[in-house]
Amino acid sequence: ANAGGAAASIPAPAEAPVAAGGSLTILYGTQSGNGKAVAAQLQAQAEAKGLSTKLVSMADYPAKQLKKETHLAVVVSTHGEGDPPDEAEELHALLGSKRAPKLADLKFSVLALGDSSYEFYCQTGKDFDERLAKQGGTRLLDRIDCDVDFEAAAEAWRNQLVDLLAEELAAVHAPVQAGVAANTSVSATASQYDKKHPFTASLLANQKITGRDSIKDIRHVEIDLEGSGLAYRPGDSLGIWFDNDVALVDELLGLLDVDPASEVKLDDDTLSLKDALTSKYELTQLVPSFVKAYAELANSDELSKLVEDATALREFIGERQVIDVVRQYPAKLTAEQLQGCLRRITPRLYSIASSQADVEEEVHLTVGVVRYDAFGEEHLGGASGYLAERLEEGGEVKVFIENNDHFRLPESGDTPVIMVGPGTGIAPFRAFLQEREANDAEGDNWLFFGNPTFTEDFLYQTEIQRYVKSGVLSKIDLAWSRDQAHKIYVQDKIRENGAELYAWLERGAHFYICGDASRMAKDVHEALIAVVAEHGGKSQEDAEAYVSDLRRAKRYQRDVY
Ligand code: 2AM
Repeated sequence: ANAGGAAASIPAPAEAPVAAGGSLTILYGTQSGNGKAVAAQLQAQAEAKGLSTKLVSMADYPAKQLKKETHLAVVVSTHGEGDPPDEAEELHALLGSKRAPKLADLKFSVLALGDSSYEFYCQTGKDFDERLAKQGGTRLLDRIDCDVDFEAAAEAWRNQLVDLLAEELAAVHAPVQAGVAANTSVSATASQYDKKHPFTASLLANQKITGRDSIKDIRHVEIDLEGSGLAYRPGDSLGIWFDNDVALVDELLGLLDVDPASEVKLDDDTLSLKDALTSKYELTQLVPSFVKAYAELANSDELSKLVEDATALREFIGERQVIDVVRQYPAKLTAEQLQGCLRRITPRLYSIASSQADVEEEVHLTVGVVRYDAFGEEHLGGASGYLAERLEEGGEVKVFIENNDHFRLPESGDTPVIMVGPGTGIAPFRAFLQEREANDAEGDNWLFFGNPTFTEDFLYQTEIQRYVKSGVLSKIDLAWSRDQAHKIYVQDKIRENGAELYAWLERGAHFYICGDASRMAKDVHEALIAVVAEHGGKSQEDAEAYVSDLRRAKRYQRDVY
């Protein structure tokens, strides 16, 4: 339990303060690697101060252990509509239930990761914070909520917490100099490139894979990683740094009557406002904080009134981007004022749609282009607009790999897998199939795919049919939601095939969902429980427990957004 390498039984040196006997447990629950990285950094810092620590994923943490903790740091993210990440789900539910343990001896602090463009910002972190306090725990340090550009806030939390802990927990051994780094390496990818130091790759191909009459514009994108040494595994994501549309930047600068050449300072650089707006600030995702700050600067009573009412503000944001607010309420701003309203651009993560066993130094993505008409203008998403419309073949794009250890093929190639991936959710399953084919894996593969229509929206149709023919895909079920009068969704196909699906689970199959989090993944989850109840002859409660066990055994994994 002592990750620092020094055994807890080593007696404290005589001159040391009375050993409090406590150690710090760092619990993390996140969908992307961010939370784990922050948790590991906290561990490294704490250990460097000689504290004894334990770093655990919530997925692997026995809840009854909570009662024994004295010092707890929680790093947890929020997804969709205030939902916990999969690995936090159980602990989150337990703490909110009647079975929650009393925690009178606990001192804790929560770092909440989230995205302020969502309504239930940092909700899971808020829940943990409240629930731990309600069970009798004492806050060592107030919760900190971090937005998508979380680094600075997370660092402040780590620093303060470690200082407090150093006082709280008498160091029982000298700072461990060596060994810390080895214990805390987070990423399995040994590459010099990461989020802050991305690789400049080139675009090889951008091909529309939905039909001309489709309601969707989905692209198959190929990117060249040659020379980067970047390695990824099926299940990983590719981070994409993108530039905003220069036409949009020009229009914004014009409306605000500010000089594009104004010099602005950012990180330790000086650059023109126009360049900063193009590649450093978020213009497509509108967040409440922008509207609030802008309302004040624009001196608009109407806007100021609106931002007082959270519901009205959310409705106002709706389909708007930054430009829509400025078009509607033009104002004259200085460069610094504009900078002060905007938030920093963050890279977008796309599930990788290829396996290196097949495509070697390339990486493929399945990109749904965000494109819609609103207020009389066409709107494009930031990263998807960049990849689909603004980046030319051969053009440069900054990328990095985000490891995704909670979405992995089974260790054994013989284990059957069931993949549910409607729409762009197909992406990681294309990677799975490529990998399994390249490795001659013998296990059965079953794909559930869905989209509006067979003729316009059968993504990767030729490849998939080839997999069916060659036997790599043992079974496929397709749900074309709009090819008939009533909707047919993947979960309907799951229920229809319930007996066989349950049989697959009983022989050890892993079950994967990728795609829309807000509706599809929830409905598929319900369908899975219903299938287990019906075909396993179980009560609703027992079926839920069966599915929880699958998740705990890492046989039920999700990559949802
Ligand atoms: P629809 O747009 O015709 O309603 C990929 O986006 C596919 O997922 C589409 O066929 C879409 O159907 C479908 N879809 C929409 N809502 C869904 C839900 N709650 N569960 C499963 N699939 C859904």
